[in-house]
Amino acid sequence: MRFIFRPPAAEATGLLSLPWDQPLEEWEDELLLDVPSRGISRHVVRFVAVDGHVFALKEISERLARHEYALLAQFEGEGLPSVSVLGICVDRPHDQQAILVTRYLEYSMSYRWLFSRPQGEHSAEQLLDTMVVLLVRLHLAGVFWGDCSLSNTLFRLDAGTFSAYLVDAETVDRHPRLSPGQRAYDVDLARERVGAELLDLRFGGLLPDGIDPIEVADGLPRRYETLWEEVTREEVFRTDEQRYRVAERLRRLNDLGFDVGEVELLTTDEGTRLRVETRVAEPGQNRRELFKLTGLEVQERQAQRLLNDVRAFRAYLEQKSGRPVPETIAGHRWLAEVYQPVVDAIPRHLAGRLAPAEIFHEVLEHRWFLSEHAGRDVGTTEAARSYLETVLPRTPPEVTTPSVIAGRK
Ligand SMILES: Nc1ncnc2c1ncn2[C@@H]1O[C@H](COP(=O)(O)OP(=O)(O)O)[C@@H](O)[C@H]1O
Ligand SMILES: [Mg+2]
Repeated sequence: MRFIFRPPAAEATGLLSLPWDQPLEEWEDELLLDVPSRGISRHVVRFVAVDGHVFALKEISERLARHEYALLAQFEGEGLPSVSVLGICVDRPHDQQAILVTRYLEYSMSYRWLFSRPQGEHSAEQLLDTMVVLLVRLHLAGVFWGDCSLSNTLFRLDAGTFSAYLVDAETVDRHPRLSPGQRAYDVDLARERVGAELLDLRFGGLLPDGIDPIEVADGLPRRYETLWEEVTREEVFRTDEQRYRVAERLRRLNDLGFDVGEVELLTTDEGTRLRVETRVAEPGQNRRELFKLTGLEVQERQAQRLLNDVRAFRAYLEQKSGRPVPETIAGHRWLAEVYQPVVDAIPRHLAGRLAPAEIFHEVLEHRWFLSEHAGRDVGTTEAARSYLETVLPRTPPEVTTPSVIAGRK
């Protein structure tokens, strides 16, 4: 028998004493943990608790175990939402299949569990939307899932909204990018599977009466296309409104749970064409990236907003000069020409009210508000002046929550 563990695998030592030589189905109940209402599965999947950690074990052919192991490891490295893989056990006696070991995704819920609760009013629609966000994220990264279903998705509550994780990567195929045909096929597979799963819930008496399984499942492609379009579409703006319209678009992408990569502005006859690269950032990545580019140390969401502005500024420099501008140069220029002047303009007696990065973020919001009102771009200098005169003085000293922005509810 051989174990292949993905470092660091400190938790793995405790696992070694488990009866790997026996069929997973026959392991003693005392070793196992009962996880109620799991998704529907093809393989024997069981759960164990060792030294306070819980693991999911799946008996599966060696080829698939290796495939799934490699993919889950890649996903984790790239910050894609999936379960985290610990390792595999291969060469088990009597030609037994391999076992794939993943870390139990804490606080995760299966759709069956969500529907079996009496207050299971989490609408099927909400779960589908969450799953669709996951599918779009995976497709942006070139992942063809091949088996997107409610059973293969785990849900987690995050301050009242759900987030979704991929749990089963057996059928996954990776490509540099997916063609529209590949995406449509993947979505269609999801539609079929979700329809079957909802019907199964209906027969089990778990689905609220008002929900039509087929209708809900048939709505999936449309939900997917809407989000895909929102995330990937190119937009054209008038040149004198481009700045705030770009800011608006980037913020909307953030609100949908996506981070912004490269931003490109092309001058065309109709106006400025905006192209945005969306991506999924690992937690903390925005902070690290902003620090690398500008040396600023701020909170994660502040970093997300400030990076939007750095990226839009870089695109603007490239558009103006007609040449590529390296990220590091754009970062330095943004710091010196955009960020620092705002921070320097903060009057001494107001300086301690909010962190400088928070003030800058509020100036960006204020700039957007003034521009939207005026129907054209208002510059950062003007927005900062207005903000520092009218908004910041009304922020009580020593607050830790963001102040109310002038005129916005
Ligand atoms: N790491 C994990 N954390 C939480 N639940 C898990 C984990 N791995 C598997 N499960 C649960 O077990 C079910 C079956 O696992 P899956 O990998 O989909 O097996 P199969 O290939 O048989 O479909 C999933 O639907 C999920 O509910
Ligand atoms: Mg599965």
